[in-house]
Amino acid sequence: MNNKPIFFSNHRKRKRNLKLKDIIDQPDLSNNMNNHNILDIGFGNGDSLIKASKRENQKIYGIESYEIGLNKVISHINKVKEKNIYIYKGDAVEIIDIFPDKFFDCVNVFFPDPWPKRRHHKRRFISKYFLSRLKNKVKKTNKVHITSDHINFIFDTKRIVNEYLKKNLHFSNHRSDRPITKYEKKALSKGHIIFDIIFNL
Ligand SMILES: C[S@@+](CC[C@H](N)C(=O)[O-])C[C@H]1O[C@@H](n2cnc3c(N)ncnc32)[C@H](O)[C@@H]1O
Repeated sequence: MNNKPIFFSNHRKRKRNLKLKDIIDQPDLSNNMNNHNILDIGFGNGDSLIKASKRENQKIYGIESYEIGLNKVISHINKVKEKNIYIYKGDAVEIIDIFPDKFFDCVNVFFPDPWPKRRHHKRRFISKYFLSRLKNKVKKTNKVHITSDHINFIFDTKRIVNEYLKKNLHFSNHRSDRPITKYEKKALSKGHIIFDIIFNL
């Protein structure tokens, strides 16, 4: 995969609308250190990202590889001249190190692809290695929120998180401020149960 990140935001004046083919240099994020910074990994169509950007004083950073989803968010950025959304095209595992250390207040991973077949489990990106790299990127008070409707995936993820944290976390009995995404509606219509894991790294 071409892992050169494509960064989008309206942080500077643009003569024309953004396009997916634009590659814009990573901005200097040092001025954003004191903002409430939220990372949304695998934002899909951008439902959660766009909703969160409407809250005051929050900056949202999204990583996604799915072009249709990226284009939806780019259209939103262009349409409302959104200044709080920063998006990166590519694989979260490759992109995470781009961000400054101690940067994020909150990391959301809503309905990541469960890769149900055993031979594809290696494509799941929540691993102890990924968590250890993510830990460098979050502030001391941080919240990591992982959600899935896939039982095998979420139990496996809970085990990985517990082993990493050396704790015995349980599923959360609330959804926190997680908005309802298109994917969640689909899962609920199939009668699936939604599981949330919320923890501090
Ligand atoms: C099932 S969709 C869920 C989308 C959205 N979070 C929601 O709740 O509607 C999972 C998304 O994660 C993205 N994704 C999977 N692995 C990824 C990775 N390693 N880096 C970035 N995005 C990833 C996929 O492209 C897909 O759009």
